[in-house]
Amino acid sequence: MTALLHAGRPCPFGTTACAIVVGGHAVRWAARSGPSIDAPANARRLAEDLVASVAALPVDVVRVATLLPSGRPVALVGAEAIPVAVSLSHLAGFAAVAASDQVPGVGVDAVDTAMTASTLEWWFDRCERRWSAGTSPQHVWGAKEAAFKAAGIDGHFRPQRVNVRAEGVDGFRWDLVGRWRSACGAGRFVKVGRWLVAVAIRAGSSPAGPAGGRDGCS
Ligand SMILES: CC(C)(COP(=O)(O)OP(=O)(O)OC[C@H]1O[C@@H](n2cnc3c(N)ncnc32)[C@H](O)[C@@H]1OP(=O)(O)O)[C@@H](O)C(=O)NCCC(=O)NCCS
Repeated sequence: MTALLHAGRPCPFGTTACAIVVGGHAVRWAARSGPSIDAPANARRLAEDLVASVAALPVDVVRVATLLPSGRPVALVGAEAIPVAVSLSHLAGFAAVAASDQVPGVGVDAVDTAMTASTLEWWFDRCERRWSAGTSPQHVWGAKEAAFKAAGIDGHFRPQRVNVRAEGVDGFRWDLVGRWRSACGAGRFVKVGRWLVAVAIRAGSSPAGPAGGRDGCS
């Protein structure tokens, strides 16, 4: 397994070297590459180490488990959920995790920039196509998946329901109008070798209808 670098500094997992500010909130993230890191159990272990560091708990008491039918991971101590939002993403040879105790929802998505991604644009609206042309389809897709995970809506992933817009040099904002709940938030990209990691946070949500203008969204 290879520890990767973030902003030129070694990023051994569980250290504050991997702190990032997303939408004004502190989020910790970590990423690793290696032949077996993408195995679900290994990615989960990475997430447990990160949650332990965010919550200042010994790593052996923390569990990251899938308790919900949606597949959304939850941080636990014993049988009790703890107030640390956690997310993970794994693909061949790579895993990324993010966690925060400052926001109700965190989402992370890793995409391999070496993979062809031309068909992804089918899911983009006009603004997203323009953004994709100026960056890459992987940016837009990664932002959509990270936003979906941060939204915590526990429904099916429908890429066209997640609107993402570029913000600043390496940021984005997002909103999602779900059937039962809507949400919005912010995100940032981090480039890690050939992988692009999108980290999103949920800033607000509402029971139904567009999230814009409610609970801190604008
Ligand atoms: C979220 C999703 C788009 C990510 O898929 P992906 O890009 O192929 O995979 P990633 O590696 O980036 O992410 C997978 C991780 O996302 C997390 N995840 C799965 N579903 C999630 C959800 N609804 N919300 C937040 N995170 C979720 C899990 O930790 C999962 O890891 P695991 O498979 O080891 O448990 C995909 O898992 C999905 O479509 N989930 C919805 C499932 C669904 O429709 N459930 C029924 C509705 S109730």
